[in-house]
Amino acid sequence: MEKQWRCTVCGYIHSGENPPEICPVCGVDASFFELIPQLEAQNTVTDTKSVAKPVLAQPDQENAIRQALYRISYGLYIITAQAEGRDNGQCANTCFQITSDPARLAIGINKLNYTHELIQKSGKFGVSVLNQTGQAYARGFGYRSGRDADKFEGLAVHRGESGVLLLDDALVTMQATVMGQMDAGTHTLFLADVTNGEILQEGDPMTYAFFRASK
Ligand SMILES: Cc1cc2nc3c(=O)[nH]c(=O)nc-3n(C[C@H](O)[C@H](O)[C@H](O)COP(=O)(O)O)c2cc1C
Repeated sequence: MEKQWRCTVCGYIHSGENPPEICPVCGVDASFFELIPQLEAQNTVTDTKSVAKPVLAQPDQENAIRQALYRISYGLYIITAQAEGRDNGQCANTCFQITSDPARLAIGINKLNYTHELIQKSGKFGVSVLNQTGQAYARGFGYRSGRDADKFEGLAVHRGESGVLLLDDALVTMQATVMGQMDAGTHTLFLADVTNGEILQEGDPMTYAFFRASK
């Protein structure tokens, strides 16, 4: 039987003697591939209803946890903030609804980020939900700090009622007011009430997996 290799980042399966040089889905190199052991049958009890259950060999716990976390699905968002006359924004995947009534969401923001500083100072932030052609926004807001650059230069944006800038080229935007926060070590988890929303486009949102596969 032909060997099978699994990408430990995105789960893509490759058949062949060797792993591929580059994962066609997420772009990582061959070192991220692991050889899939032959499936082992379990439950050999002669109960006609029981079906043999395939069990994969388990990596060590550190690896298993890392691989498990990689398989959580996320969207991609531009989180914006404004304080003391300065605007900034960053890319984030950690943005999720906590409750729908009241409309409340949470974001996880690194304490070193300039956006973190502005959210702490103002208690407010904006969320622009990227569409599936938003790769350039994810790169522009995610790979450099607003301490060194004006990330909004040349971009079409509008200002929301709360004062934050929002992307014109987004599926939807939201504005939120922080109502609680939790120290999560390197990051702060901001819990916030959504005060405004606007629908700008039809279409499907960008996911983190789609971004990795298409960047
Ligand atoms: C795809 C992607 C997802 C990211 N997700 C997060 C996130 O959830 N939280 C976070 O703090 N930083 C995240 N980042 C990193 C920040 O966007 C990055 O550190 C940014 O440069 C911070 O900018 P600032 O200093 O202007 O605030 C992400 C970056 C990328 C490219």
